[in-house]
Parts: sequence; C-alpha cells; structure tokens
Amino acid sequence: MGMLDGHVALLTGAAGGIGLAAARALHADGARVMLADIDEARLAEAAASIGEGCAATRLDATSRASWQGAVETTLARFGGLTILVNSAGISEPADIETLGDDAWDRHLAINLSAVIYGMQAATPAMKASGKPCAIVNIASMLSMRPGAPFIAYCASKSGMVAASKSAALHFASNRIPIRVNTVHPGAIRTPMYERYIAMGEDREATEAAFAATHPMGRIGEPEEVAQAILFLASPRSSFTTGAELPVDGAGHIRD
Ligand SMILES: NC(=O)c1ccc[n+]([C@@H]2O[C@H](COP(=O)([O-])OP(=O)(O)OC[C@H]3O[C@@H](n4cnc5c(N)ncnc54)[C@H](O)[C@@H]3O)[C@@H](O)[C@H]2O)c1
Repeated sequence: MGMLDGHVALLTGAAGGIGLAAARALHADGARVMLADIDEARLAEAAASIGEGCAATRLDATSRASWQGAVETTLARFGGLTILVNSAGISEPADIETLGDDAWDRHLAINLSAVIYGMQAATPAMKASGKPCAIVNIASMLSMRPGAPFIAYCASKSGMVAASKSAALHFASNRIPIRVNTVHPGAIRTPMYERYIAMGEDREATEAAFAATHPMGRIGEPEEVAQAILFLASPRSSFTTGAELPVDGAGHIRD
C-alpha cells in the first residue's frame, strides 16, 4: 500500500521535466495523477508512459477558464482532488537593463498569476474532499538567492513564494486542511536546463559553470526534486506548511 492511496493529484508542467518526474513519484506512492500542460503532443506521450491511474488534460495555466476545466476534468475522471503541484514555469534571461515588457508580463503570468489561479481553482474541490490536502509550488534557488541575469524569473518566483506562504497561513489559521509549501530546485537536468545549455557555445564549459554554482559540484536530476515534492505532498510532512525546501546541493547558501 502506498501512502497516497486514495489521493488524486493534478500536476501542471507535467508533459516533461520536474512535473512529469513528480507525477511518477506520486503515482508510485499510490496517487492517481492528472497531468496538465499547454503542450498537448508531449502530454499524451507522458501519460502513456505512466499508464493505469494516469490521465492528461490540456491546461493553459495563465487562464482561469482553463483551470476550471482542468479541475472539472480531474473530478470527473478520478472523483476528487487532494494534491496540486504547480510545476509549469518559464525562465528567460534578462537583467534590469535588458528586460522588455513582454518578457516581464510572460514571467508574471506563468510563474506567479497562474499559481494563484491554480490554488484558487483547486481549493473548493480540496475542501469538499474531506481529506488532508497539499499544494506544492515549484519556485527556485534563484528566489532564495537572486541572480542578476534573471530579473523577471527571480521576481516572479519570489512573488509566488510570498503568495504560497499567504495561502498557507490562511488555510492553517482557518483550520482548513490544505498545506502549501514551495520547493526550490537548483539547476536540474530538464528541457528548461537544456535550453540554457544550448545558449552557451561550449556545452562542457556551460555545464561546468552551472555545476560550479552548487557546492555539491553537480547538476541535479528531476527525480531528486520529485522526492522532495512527494514528501511535501504526502502525510509524511503533515505538520509542515508555509515552508521553503531547497533541492540545490547547497547552492542557496554558497559563499
Ligand atoms: N530545470 C531547472 O534547472 C529548474 C531550476 C529551478 C526551478 N525550476 C522550476 O521548475 C519548474 C519545472 O521546470 P522544468 O525544468 O521541468 O521545465 P520544463 O521547461 O522542462 O517544463 C515546464 C513545463 O511547463 C509547461 N508550460 C509552460 N507554460 C505553460 C502554461 N501557460 N500552461 C501550462 N503549462 C505550461 C511547458 O510546456 C513545460 O512542459 C518550473 O517552474 C521551473 O521554473 C527549474
């Protein structure tokens, strides 16, 4: 028996990367999982790779109507919703001098507003489930230790962390059994990371530069982040809410 038997998880950004790794970990622990992503083609393949107890739905996380649809699809398919993992996100490099309005708006829409919309869309179904529920939002090492070349990313993720803590406080102090926590990955080997590697001229040198920002001296794997998400999504962390959990080889506290 898994610790998440009887639980239903909706995961965004689940067509690949950290979202899909988290779906696998939750599914292996007994949860039924609804994969949600804007990328329909990769979604179908991802759902097929998990199999029984897994379904997929297209979601544009920046749209409240799309969120409503994803929650309704989850309830219709699996009869409830107890876990929400917000992993959809974008990261485009720009500093204070080069940041354009479009990039700023995109980061705010996907990394911040979408997470608030998701928490709001999921809350009524979670309250109706009668079970202890959990929301896990994927932030970043860069919200704990901002970097100059990623101003919109750092700011949008930091705002999302503040929103997560506000929601955690609201639920806790109103005795609503929904915990909200954030996971803060360092550089993790996913399609997002590969896009950054592709921007460098020399793959090995770019990888080494990323690894050097983590005192453990390497890049992380999506499965390592998935285990942190599993911990926060499950009753293993039943007294933990409003917390930030780094998964970054000590990157956020490096010299
Ligand atoms: N990979 C890293 O190094 C790293 C480091 C720190 C934080 N993170 C965070 O982890 C999360 C997952 O990142 P990843 O590395 O798996 O990235 P990824 O690019 O591999 O996956 C992100 C997913 O989000 C989806 N998405 C984008 N916009 C969407 C929208 N509007 N609606 C629904 N889905 C949308 C994409 O289609 C994609 O499948 C992100 O929030 C990211 O910011 C990643």
